[in-house]
Amino acid sequence: MPEPLDSALAEVRSMLLNPALTRAVAAGRRRGQHPSVVRAELRPVALKAGPRLQIATSDGARPYTRNVAPGPEADAAVEALLAEPFGNWHVETTDRTLQLRVTKSGEAQVHRTTAARPAVAPAGHDRVKEYLLDPGDPIFAEIGGSAAKRRQVDAFLRALAATLPVEPARNLPGPLRVVDLGCGNAYLTFAAYRYLSQLGLDVELVGVDVREDQRRRNTELAERLGWAHRVRFVAGTIADADVEPAPDLVLALHACDTATDEALARAVRWGARWVLAAPCCHHDIAAQLRAQPAARPYDLLTRQGILRERFADVLTDALRAALLRLHGYRAEVVEFVDSAHTPRNLLIRARRTDAEPTEGQRTEYRELVAQWQLTPRLETLLKPSEPDR
Ligand SMILES: C[S@@+](CC[C@H](N)C(=O)[O-])C[C@H]1O[C@@H](n2cnc3c(N)ncnc32)[C@H](O)[C@@H]1O
Repeated sequence: MPEPLDSALAEVRSMLLNPALTRAVAAGRRRGQHPSVVRAELRPVALKAGPRLQIATSDGARPYTRNVAPGPEADAAVEALLAEPFGNWHVETTDRTLQLRVTKSGEAQVHRTTAARPAVAPAGHDRVKEYLLDPGDPIFAEIGGSAAKRRQVDAFLRALAATLPVEPARNLPGPLRVVDLGCGNAYLTFAAYRYLSQLGLDVELVGVDVREDQRRRNTELAERLGWAHRVRFVAGTIADADVEPAPDLVLALHACDTATDEALARAVRWGARWVLAAPCCHHDIAAQLRAQPAARPYDLLTRQGILRERFADVLTDALRAALLRLHGYRAEVVEFVDSAHTPRNLLIRARRTDAEPTEGQRTEYRELVAQWQLTPRLETLLKPSEPDR
């Protein structure tokens, strides 16, 4: 029986990060997609410096091997591999084997076998790592938040780990400058600072929210945590807030409606290298679809309110990703957390490549907005071409 791919990959993740791992191989590709490497092999190795996870990848021509330390480094490396569209995973631990094949429809066909005589994992090493940031981390006592919020933010950090390559971030000429746009009570802001610092990165983070009361509260929290020299808060709109110097990495988690467009536009104008934005509600395109009913037969998609809203959600994020591509970004839309945790579980993640858009990309965007008679907010915001520094 096929299973949801996300939960099968979560099982793969827990096996890869389990000290009982003996060997794992990822290979093949999903329909219409191409992983950045053709094969990856993982196995535990014992080095002088201590236990490491060895990851050998091949791009088809040359092999590349690296050893990553358990903890955030291994978590990030595993997350990056799980984000690759491999068609197959084969994972062996001392007590079981899992084989996963991604079907044409994007589900997981999983085969599990248990070893006849399970080996006993060494005491203290058998806890599967469920969170990227330890829930027992003392920062949580300060910043609070429900278990659901913690899980959502942890999932966002996993997506960040898969998007942000540690070496380029470490080799920036200055600190890694991060901004969290529409930061609210700064739960993500503080968790991201903790996570990125634990990777050994020199980080400066600014949280932006229109609410002055949030700025005061969050600033006090940063002081209590002893991070005020590195994490600061600005009260202002995403479009205009004073964030100097321009950030390398832009985060936005559930900035309301078109505030996500403001965040993406600002990121483009800053020339941010990495962008992760999980959109919230999508009213703008839904309102445009309501105001200008589509011609037959496409009106079937928008005639009923609920279908129109869902279709508008898809259209909005597809157009956002397309616009980012037209502005020199490689952009994709992924699920960052299970929909059981939040229905707002999509994430637009983008990396600046400065690649010129192709004529085909320009045409498909133009044709799509013309077909539906839309003017996406992001298109309007991106029109002025002066860099915003
Ligand atoms: C749904 S909350 C999300 C907060 C936080 N990112 C989180 O996920 O917990 C959205 C936040 O964005 C802020 N916001 C909405 N529009 C904004 C804008 N145009 N400029 C700045 N902040 C904005 C709101 O004040 C609110 O705190």
